[in-house]
Amino acid sequence: MLEKAQRLLQPSARSAVPPFMVMDVMAAAARLEAQGRRIIHMEVGQPAVGAPATAIAAAHAALGSGPLGYTETLGIASLRRRIAKAYGEWHALDIDPARVVVTTGSSGGFVLAFLAAFEAGDRVAVALPGYPPYRHILTALGCQPICVETTAETRWSITRDALLALHRAQPLKGVIVASPANPTGTMMPAAGLADLIRCAEDAGIAVISDEIYHGLDYAFVAETAARLASDVIIINSFSKYFCMTGWRIGWMVVPPSLLRAVERLQQNLAISVPTLSQIAAEAAFEGRQELETVRRGYEENRRILLDGLPRAGFDSFLPADGAFYLYADISRFSTDSFAFATRMLEEAGVAATPGVDFDPQRGRNFLRLSYAGSADDMRQAVERIGNWLRQI
Ligand SMILES: Cc1ncc(COP(=O)(O)O)c(C=O)c1O
Repeated sequence: MLEKAQRLLQPSARSAVPPFMVMDVMAAAARLEAQGRRIIHMEVGQPAVGAPATAIAAAHAALGSGPLGYTETLGIASLRRRIAKAYGEWHALDIDPARVVVTTGSSGGFVLAFLAAFEAGDRVAVALPGYPPYRHILTALGCQPICVETTAETRWSITRDALLALHRAQPLKGVIVASPANPTGTMMPAAGLADLIRCAEDAGIAVISDEIYHGLDYAFVAETAARLASDVIIINSFSKYFCMTGWRIGWMVVPPSLLRAVERLQQNLAISVPTLSQIAAEAAFEGRQELETVRRGYEENRRILLDGLPRAGFDSFLPADGAFYLYADISRFSTDSFAFATRMLEEAGVAATPGVDFDPQRGRNFLRLSYAGSADDMRQAVERIGNWLRQI
């Protein structure tokens, strides 16, 4: 009986997506910590601090005030209104709250967006280096991620020429853009983003803009695709700027044409997003002062690394425009970023993510360093990396 079940329950081909190597680095770091070593964590892509006090207080109050039932599928109306209002505050934009959909993190938003906008087999352009789940979720859903290798000349973003060349070779159905981006921290200037969106629209390619790192922009202000076109899908989250990764809550702004499809999908896939998280998220908007202090901390961390890492030996990295990542070229030392990250963890006690997670080929020459930790950790990391690089 058991044998028969084991034969029947084989993993599907579509589930064969690559693992996230950063998890292996995190597990190795935890093993070293269990042995009493002090590890500096620059591998994790999440804020070191928790949700703002306003969010925590609202959650406490909600827990004591009755059952937390399902909510409307598209989200609590007052939260959707609050998110729409934020576009007025941040971008002087008038967004209809009816277009706002609350999701289980931006991760839930991707599944909804891809299912609503694409058919199985559709080709969707994604940048390399880039956030791996774009490719892996598309693959699991039967779509085809089409990787576009970006370069320094174009500030590591997909260009209109690259997009059109791929589209001419075989039509694309969509393109995913992210500014600031993970793992590079690079941003697209507003004019470049506008140009790409216009070009995609003219060619009939749907644009999905991942704006999860908005609010964490240092080099210049991040532009929202919502200003540039109404026919785009915006994906955002409470995970990064709002420091609420574990609450699993995010949002989308979708064109009216997709709204009902997204609603039907979310009704069936999730019913609704966790109620407690929705209540906390709405209150998080009132924690602006606290969140701006955290943001200033990242700016300080960035300054420490931009100043210290070149002297330590990592003297080549992509422009650290936003988010909390720095993508360092390690090819002077190694062309095997996984082995290099493993060694740096064991010998210097600094955990970083190998670039191969984000770009299977060229990522062998890169490490992603997250500066979401404390300023003290950043100073120590610079010192440890410097001492270690002088020895190897
Ligand atoms: C670029 C990017 N998009 C989306 C996500 C997913 O975040 P969440 O599902 O927590 O909103 C992440 C997480 O690190 C990310 O870096």
